[in-house]
Amino acid sequence: MTEVADSKKTKKIALVTGASSGIGLSCARKLLAHGYTVVLAGRRQALLDEVADAARQRGEDALAVACDVTDDTSVTALFDTIRQRYGRLDVLFNNAGRSGPPVEIDEIPVDEWRAVVDTNLTGVFLCTRAAFGIMKKQSPQGGRIINNGSISAHAPRPYSIAYTATKHAITGLTKSVSLDGRPYDIVCGQIDIGNAATEMAARMARGVPQANGEIAIEPLMDVEHVADAVLHMAELPLSANVQFMTIMASKMPFVGRG
Ligand SMILES: NC(=O)c1ccc[n+]([C@@H]2O[C@H](COP(=O)([O-])OP(=O)(O)OC[C@H]3O[C@@H](n4cnc5c(N)ncnc54)[C@H](OP(=O)(O)O)[C@@H]3O)[C@@H](O)[C@H]2O)c1
Repeated sequence: MTEVADSKKTKKIALVTGASSGIGLSCARKLLAHGYTVVLAGRRQALLDEVADAARQRGEDALAVACDVTDDTSVTALFDTIRQRYGRLDVLFNNAGRSGPPVEIDEIPVDEWRAVVDTNLTGVFLCTRAAFGIMKKQSPQGGRIINNGSISAHAPRPYSIAYTATKHAITGLTKSVSLDGRPYDIVCGQIDIGNAATEMAARMARGVPQANGEIAIEPLMDVEHVADAVLHMAELPLSANVQFMTIMASKMPFVGRG
């Protein structure tokens, strides 16, 4: 039996945050195409509706739910909807994220720092907390949480303290969930992406600051490769886990110190 047919048989429920654009959108479409029921979350309801409507026309099972991951009440409502509608959650892709202002550290307004932390760290925590509660109690027990880290979970770019700090923090969160999820078959892995061609990474093609002060154009990769990687992580049985995966544009300045 093919992989697609297997997924269709099990009909897993997946939630993708930040599914309105970029990596989240691409991953949501990939999971839908492979038979998952996908809940698409993000703040821009109209964009999510468009994707969900198109999916349903293809016979896929999609639900668009507006959610701001920084808002505890909004996240609670999202997971209440999932619980009431499907009664379980098999995969959470914690993807929603944002960058911070590209300025010197002493020039970062505190509210902008907090906005990045609220989205990239607290948002991931709030969704993880809610998913953990469902996965722990459901039968069959367990599920998979995939966190979107970054190359910035390993090394900073110039002027990226808030983004880099939150993405490093995601690594700690991933490890904690992996450990504390063991008794309940809740597994957690992290995908660290470098230069996937999305709105957020578009500036790489225009030129971005390097450690030596130069501005350089950096290569990008097709976001489809990320979607394939996330699908691979999602499809593993709960007895196996991709703990960390790095996927990047092969020639971007990262390994070999640039
Ligand atoms: N592209 C890359 O090369 C790259 C590399 C490393 C890591 N990443 C990570 O990949 C993730 C997605 O980035 P992307 O490149 O796909 O950028 P993107 O197109 O800007 O996507 C960001 C997504 O996050 C959602 N989002 C932002 N704030 C939110 C909030 N408060 N509540 C709910 N959703 C929120 C946005 O949806 P709404 O605006 O509709 O809310 C949007 O769908 C981020 O975590 C980013 O750090 C990307």
